[in-house]
Formats: sequence, C-alpha cells, structure tokens
Amino acid sequence: VLTQGFSFQLTEEQVAVQAAAREFAQNELLPGVIERDELQKFPAEQIRKMGELGFMGMMVDPKYNGGGMDTISYVLAMEEISKIDASASVAMSVNNSLVCWGLEKYGTEEQKQKYLTRLATGEIIGAFCLSEPEAGSDATSQKTTAQDRGDYYLLNGTKNWITNGSSASVYIVIAQTYPEKGHKGINALIVEKGIPGFVIGKKENKMGIRGSDTHSLMFTDVKVPKENRIGEDGFGFKFAMSTLNGGRIGIAAQALGIASGAYELSLKYAKERKAFGKEIAQHQAIQFKLADMATQIDAARLLCLQAAFLKDQYADFAKASAMAKLFASKVAMDTTVEAVQIHGGYGYVKEYHVERLMRDAKITQIYEGTSEIQKIVISREILK
Ligand code: CAA
Ligand code: FAD
Repeated sequence: VLTQGFSFQLTEEQVAVQAAAREFAQNELLPGVIERDELQKFPAEQIRKMGELGFMGMMVDPKYNGGGMDTISYVLAMEEISKIDASASVAMSVNNSLVCWGLEKYGTEEQKQKYLTRLATGEIIGAFCLSEPEAGSDATSQKTTAQDRGDYYLLNGTKNWITNGSSASVYIVIAQTYPEKGHKGINALIVEKGIPGFVIGKKENKMGIRGSDTHSLMFTDVKVPKENRIGEDGFGFKFAMSTLNGGRIGIAAQALGIASGAYELSLKYAKERKAFGKEIAQHQAIQFKLADMATQIDAARLLCLQAAFLKDQYADFAKASAMAKLFASKVAMDTTVEAVQIHGGYGYVKEYHVERLMRDAKITQIYEGTSEIQKIVISREILK
C-alpha cells in the first residue's frame, strides 16, 4: 500500500522530535511513574510541560498555536512517551488526534480561535465523548439526546469511560438529535466544563493506565449554544468516525511504545541477570523471546508509519490505521507478557516497570474500537 514518496529515512526534524520526546520521557515522566500508577494520580504538571514543548497540539497549524508537524513525527513522539508513561500518552493522544484534529478539520473559524488555540498549547486539554453505558462498539446506538431548541441544543444523557474526564476543560460530545434518522441524525457539540447541568461522575478504578482519569459524565438539560455544533446538522457520527481514523494511529503508536519500552527493559535485564553461570541472554530460550519481540515491534512500527504516511499524503487511511492498531495492540500484549517472563520474579514487582506495562498494554486492544471492531473496519474496506 505504500505509495510513491515513502522513505525509510527520517528527516532531521523528525529525528529531533523523537529525541526531544525521549529526553522528556526519561527526565520528566520516569520519576514518579510508579507512584502515579499506584495512587491513580493524573500527571497534570507533566502534561503542562508537554504542552510547552509542543506535544499537545503537534499537528495543528502554527496559526492556531500548533506545532505544524506531520503525523510521522506524532507517531515517533507517541512511541517515546508511551515507553515510559502510557497514562500521559493517552491524554496526549486524545488531545492531539481526537480533539485538536477534529476541531481543526471540521470546526468553524470562531471555534478554532476560541478553543483550538488554547488546546494546541496544552493550556487547556480536551475530551472526546462518544461511548455510553449501552453504546460502546455499537456507537450508532446513541441514547444521549441533543434536542434542537432554536438557538441552542438541550443535551441529556450519560457518557461513559471518558479519558481526561475531570482534567479537561472542553468536551466534544456526540448526541442524537433526530432518532428517526439513525446515525445521520447525530451531532457533535462542544461543551465547556462548568456549564449548568453538566456533572462529572465517578472516576474509574482501572487495571492499567491508572494515572489517566477516566470518568462518566452526566448531562441534564444542558443548554449548548448552536454555534458550538461541529459541522453541518447531522454530521456528528461521520465526524466521530473520521476523527477516530486518526485517533487509532495515536493509540497504535501508544501500543508500539508500550511494547518497545518493555523490550528495551528486557534486553538490558537479560544481559545483566545471571543464571546457571552465564547471562540469561546466553540461553537460547531467552534469545528467541527477544528475537520475536524485536521482529514484532519492527512490523508494528512499519504499520504505524504507513498509516501516518498515508494520512500525511491525504490518502484514504482508515484501513491502514485500523491495521496498525489491531496489530500493534496485540504486539503490546504479547511483548509485555514475555517481558515479565524474562524478568522472572522481579518482573512481578512494581520496581521493574514491566508489570505496569503489561497492565497498560491491555487497554490498547479495547479503546478507540476493540480489536474485533478493527477487524470489522478492515474487512469492510477489503470487501467494498
Ligand atoms: N471512517 C469513515 N466513516 C466511517 C467509518 C470509518 N472508519 N466507519 C463507519 N463509517 C461511516 C459509514 O460509512 C456510515 O456512513 P454512511 O451511512 O454515510 O455510509 C456510517 O459511518 C455508519 O457506519 P455503519 O453503517 O458501518 O455502522 P455500523 O453500526 O454497522 O458500524 C462501526 C460502525 C464501524 C462498528 C462503528 O460503530 C465503530 O467504529 N465502533 C467503535 C466505536 C469506537 O471506536 N469508539 C471509540 C470511542 S473513543 C475512545 O475510545 C478514546 C480513548 O479511549 C482514548
Ligand atoms: P462492547 O461494545 O460491549 O463490547 C464487548 C465485547 O463484544 C468486546 O470484546 C467487543 O469487541 C465485542 N463485540 C461488540 N460488538 C461486536 C461485533 N459486532 N462483532 C464482534 N465482536 C463484537 N470512549 C470514549 O468515547 N471516549 C474516551 O475518551 C474513552 N476512553 C476510554 C478509556 C478507558 C480506560 C476505557 C476502558 C474505555 C474508554 N472509552 C472511551 C470507551 C471505549 O472506546 C469502549 O470501551 C470500547 O469502544 C468498547 O465498548 P464497550 O466497552 O461498550 O464494549
């Protein structure tokens, strides 16, 4: 699928972005990552610094305060941040690819000036609210309603599992306006924190990415001004699907980072730990695990870069991003399980990081469309 113009050689700018992200992750995210996971502490200060470095609005046009970078740079940075802290990287992914990208592509100039200019710098962060208690994979079955009341929408309903749920200032909320029109009657609305009737519900106590704040959100007779609708009347579901195509590249890169982080730790450990008079890296069973990890990770990286490249070329990238997410999330799961194995008993305790990476890996097979949903997306594209 790679089209003309694809190069295996990164540009100087891409290498610099990768190096900056690696350095930031080592210096600013690694200290305290175990404690934040244990205490379920959102990395607020770190996210603020990531904003200052341009990581929260990487692909946004500089005229809206963004970094003006390409999607390949975004993949490289996401991988580096995710090697160390997948809770920070999910906040980064949602803000970059679900909130900023959607607003820049489909928002009005007023919406961009009012919201995007601050989201792109990380001064404020955003959330993307599609899932509901009874509408996860089956996303067209929206129960949240946005009734048209002339100059405003009356928003009622509950959203579930919202990343950046309490930390965000701006929420993109998907809701049904014309139930008789099915998915063509859905709208996407920008909702500000603090508006009357909007209540942030309980924080989920999760297996992994425990530093990220995942909340349910309740809307009761919330009056959302008409000018806060994104796109034409009834465009909300297409908006969500189109935005998720890009989001899946971010999550694929997150999965890649979790895998490569676990691999790097395993490689180092295998050269240090001795058993039966030699380093465990000298035992073929361990060598083969490392060989499998390295091969799978390279394949996952190529799929991520392919999807990013196609997006940057304005080509159709829905299938490529679904493939990248499907594959990279499996690699994340498989690699982290083996990383714990290579570390033996030490892998089972927190200080060695790999048990956290294993817990963090699982979510990449669930959010932004489960692996089963990615297969639906891929097979529909293949068969159409
Ligand atoms: N790109 C563009 N358009 C798409 C699309 C895609 N990938 N997938 C579907 N569409 C369009 C279809 O073309 C169709 O439009 P038309 O009728 O105009 O042709 C419309 O959307 C409805 O599609 P379907 O008829 O295929 O609807 P469906 O109900 O059979 O299935 C689905 C749709 C692909 C399963 C979809 O519901 C889906 O993607 N579900 C998963 C939801 C999801 O990914 N949620 C993630 C929430 S955000 C999140 O998780 C963030 C986080 O964790 C950090
Ligand atoms: P279901 O849809 O109930 O799926 C249950 C199982 O059935 C899965 O294995 C699924 O693959 C399978 N299944 C369902 N339909 C089919 C089918 N047609 N064919 C084959 N198998 C099928 N959502 C947001 O909108 N915004 C967020 O910021 C966000 N962040 C999240 C953060 C976390 C930590 C978590 C856990 C979730 C988050 N989500 C978010 C929600 C996430 O996108 C959904 O959980 C996901 O889409 C799956 O929906 P569900 O949980 O309702 O599972």
